[in-house]
Amino acid sequence: MVVGMTILAAPTLAAEDATRLYAEHCAACHGGDRLGAIGPALLPENLGRLRKAEAEKVIAQGRDATQMPGHADKLSPEQIKVLAEYVYTPLAAVPSWGMAEIKASHVVSVDPAGLPARPQWTTDPLNLFTVVETGDHHVTILDGDSFKPLARFASRFALHGGAKYSPDGRFVYLASRDGWITKYDLYTLQIVAEIRAGVNTRNVAVSHDGRFLMVGNMLPHTLVALDARDLSPLQVIPVVGDEKATSRVSAVYTAPPRSSFVVALKDILEVWEIPYADDAGPVMNGFVHSYEKGLEEGISPGGRFQAIRIRTPDYLDDFFFDRTYERVMGASRDGKKGLVVDLDIKRKIAEIDLPGMPHLGSGIIFRKDGRDYMATPHLKEAVISIIDMETWKTVKRIPTLGPGFFMRSHENTGYAWIDVSMGKEKDAIQIIDLNAMEIARTLRPAPGRTTAHAEFDRSGKHVLISVMEADGELIVFDAERFEVVARMPMKRPVGKYNVFNKINYSSGTSH
Ligand code: HEC
Repeated sequence: MVVGMTILAAPTLAAEDATRLYAEHCAACHGGDRLGAIGPALLPENLGRLRKAEAEKVIAQGRDATQMPGHADKLSPEQIKVLAEYVYTPLAAVPSWGMAEIKASHVVSVDPAGLPARPQWTTDPLNLFTVVETGDHHVTILDGDSFKPLARFASRFALHGGAKYSPDGRFVYLASRDGWITKYDLYTLQIVAEIRAGVNTRNVAVSHDGRFLMVGNMLPHTLVALDARDLSPLQVIPVVGDEKATSRVSAVYTAPPRSSFVVALKDILEVWEIPYADDAGPVMNGFVHSYEKGLEEGISPGGRFQAIRIRTPDYLDDFFFDRTYERVMGASRDGKKGLVVDLDIKRKIAEIDLPGMPHLGSGIIFRKDGRDYMATPHLKEAVISIIDMETWKTVKRIPTLGPGFFMRSHENTGYAWIDVSMGKEKDAIQIIDLNAMEIARTLRPAPGRTTAHAEFDRSGKHVLISVMEADGELIVFDAERFEVVARMPMKRPVGKYNVFNKINYSSGTSH
């Protein structure tokens, strides 16, 4: 057999062989620079979640029902190993993805100015859900009244869950692992525009006035501002701290009352705030000056978006805001505590007792006896922590069946729904009575299957849960009786996002 002979002739393969093999067999689809083409980018940063052994299997056998062909008939097992090794090797230099590359990727499919003013269907436009299915890279637009799909379309490869909406709920913005931003019109059920804003992207935030998008990248170390109308790029903001140290972005958030984006950074000890209001002027000494005052003092604006840099005593990856958005909680990198940073005072104002890697990004706020409490799951501890938002004291730790990822509630319910999918009992969903601060019920709607990510409908009467498997499903529960009312098959539905709850910044859901 030819393959066997190749192995005998070349028992060890050098790096040049990997480059040559890649150019010959892979570059046409994954790009000569490995930044992706019709196939996804093959970089260690992007492959993060795929294990090396799994990558070898994909290279050898291909992926069913996709354009990824198997190579076992063309390449020896050793050559496949070498290629897997190669795609996990970082590029020699940070890939260049600046304004020129971003602009060149821009596709406008529909003139946004020519779109009809009303939905082309009849159902409650604010009770739609965008369901991200990563099993076969599709998105389902689900009618939240009838639980029937309005549309299902192919998405970019590996969307991150968090769909974002325009303030009126008409448009949904999606971000993919490889940096593609998609604008989709829910009224006419079609893609309006797409642009590749980075090589590896964390997420996108939409300004509360609907005018701007801010994209946070891991590769390169940039933030990219886009015009929300057609996704035209407005500004590339390099993420640079003191002494030219650059940083990956871990997330961008919108702070509506402040008219600003707030940015969590992975590699420098800072939080950034980027004002977007028209009267936000240039930044000096960490403060925004009015545009006129800035000109008087000779500060050059240098682009519409300017970052106010706030120093933090620890790396803060994951954020949670209080109702005013003046205070932001972050989890420390070592996973032992939380910090509260005041964006006006511009420094840390409190520490919170929060061991076990809190997943603040999916925390919720609820009111009890006239006080605001915050509840958060932990990625490494089987507990839900409840924090008093005035004193920043942890008032209760509710033991759960395992560490969890998501938590959801709604203004019209007294319950919060959590998963415990980071532990062994991946099929359990637990319901917390927020008044009693206790577990009220444990459900196992799909025994033995990973079940997570609860999301309420507009009214708070129904809860949707994902069975996150390749042949998974969405399960709809009555939110008061905890009974199943509908089930529908889906391909690994990782996240679902209700228009109304999102555009109203419901305190029971992530923003
Ligand atoms: C004909 C086009 C094509 C060729 C040739 C090709 N790929 Fe792919 N590859 C794809 C597509 C499309 C996907 C995405 C499949 C999916 O949807 O899961 C993919 C997926 C992959 C993945 C999984 C990525 C992930 O994040 O899950 C790896 C690894 C991979 N390819 C490596 C290779 C290597 C190495 C070669 C060369 C030996 C190669 N591919 C050749 C099109 C191709």
